[in-house]
Amino acid sequence: MNELDSSRLRDLRIDIGRLSGRLEALAQIGDTGDGGNCRLALTDEDRHGRDLVVGWMRDLGLEVTVDTVGNVVAVYPGHTDGPPVMTGSHIDTVRTGGRYDGNLGVLAGLEVIETLSAAGVRLPRPVAVGFFTDEEGSRFPPDMLGSLVFVGGMSIEAALDVTDSDGVSVGAELDRIGYRGAAPCPAPAPFAFVELHIEQGPVLEQEGVTIGAVTGVQGISWQEVTIDGQSNHAGTTPMSMRRDAGFAAARAAVAAREIAKDIGGFQVATVGVLDLHPDLVNVVAGRARLCLDMRNIHEQELQQAERLMATSLERIATAEGVGISVRSMARFEPVIFDLPVVDLIEDVARRLGHSTKRLPSGAGHDAQMLARVCPSGMIFVPSHRGLSHNPAEYTAPEDLAAGADVLLQTMIALACWEGDIPQVSPTGGAFNRSERGVGAPIA
Ligand code: GLV
Ligand code: MN
Ligand code: MN
Repeated sequence: MNELDSSRLRDLRIDIGRLSGRLEALAQIGDTGDGGNCRLALTDEDRHGRDLVVGWMRDLGLEVTVDTVGNVVAVYPGHTDGPPVMTGSHIDTVRTGGRYDGNLGVLAGLEVIETLSAAGVRLPRPVAVGFFTDEEGSRFPPDMLGSLVFVGGMSIEAALDVTDSDGVSVGAELDRIGYRGAAPCPAPAPFAFVELHIEQGPVLEQEGVTIGAVTGVQGISWQEVTIDGQSNHAGTTPMSMRRDAGFAAARAAVAAREIAKDIGGFQVATVGVLDLHPDLVNVVAGRARLCLDMRNIHEQELQQAERLMATSLERIATAEGVGISVRSMARFEPVIFDLPVVDLIEDVARRLGHSTKRLPSGAGHDAQMLARVCPSGMIFVPSHRGLSHNPAEYTAPEDLAAGADVLLQTMIALACWEGDIPQVSPTGGAFNRSERGVGAPIA
């Protein structure tokens, strides 16, 4: 590439009006009326969102493929046919989702391609943008299900058999919405993967920083805890004779909070689901189901939290005379991103005049799965008041533009990268990609 071409590439910028317009249009689908979105994976709303984004991909003349778990990938050709530099994220949401989580990464990827295409630019490597099925995992656990299958971390058969709380399977829903495609999983590894995402936490905004260069993603443990007690009359059952599943569930939630506080540091613990049966004001609950989410960037501490929780549940079962069983819903070890990619993101952001900070991700992301098979990294932009998985989720347009421009320039650099990207961990040592972030097998 001559100097003129290089400087022309360095001057390319995305169109924030076009990107904001697409974010707005996608947010109309599954609009919850309070600024938020509900497009749970593989619902009709998800299908309509998919159709809209696939339509935009086709309008750009991209080759679009759908794989056997419904992941969608669109490719913009390069001068050579090798593995693409890939970006993307997800367009499914939690039930009370915002309009940026995931959507930004997908639509900014599309914007990168439209910017290249509008400028008539082809790069040495192809550039791809994708959206992965069921990143949120709140309907079909585990989270990042589509990208996990994409990289071969879960068999397609196991993924298609996963059911939601009504017993409906991923396979049936893919067929119903017309997104069970033919492209094989696992897919060929991209040359590199970079995902733009809102931070979903308070750090960048609090520190007045525009671009986060993400160093890795914390480990995650999801457990479903089922408590069996004795349903009985709330007025006549003496306190000493109760086997109250509701109270045992409350004790479990308190224990999770105390374990997180005692371990300290990055340890977090959340009980976000609590169902009581029969769920009536004048009946002692005979059964409770709660879902526990524990995360830490340090695997040893996450394991310690799991051990302490298991001991607490045993104590609660004995003290309250209830039966307690635990099922793992998701378990992923912490993931470290590739130092050359993290460095590149930081360099690009500085060159574009943005303040930067290196930080780990508290949320799970598709990039953590792609990191198993290719050099990977993430770009964060600030989340107003650190709010996410909430209709009030908001990122200012200038920050969206900054993040998308950093994505564009990072992808250009990767698509022009000569040779292979060296495997280097943030501590500077060599590392074995296949040994990281593998986590426990998913049942
Ligand atoms: C996915 O968004 C998660 O981190 O729960
Ligand atoms: Mn997300
Ligand atoms: Mn999310």
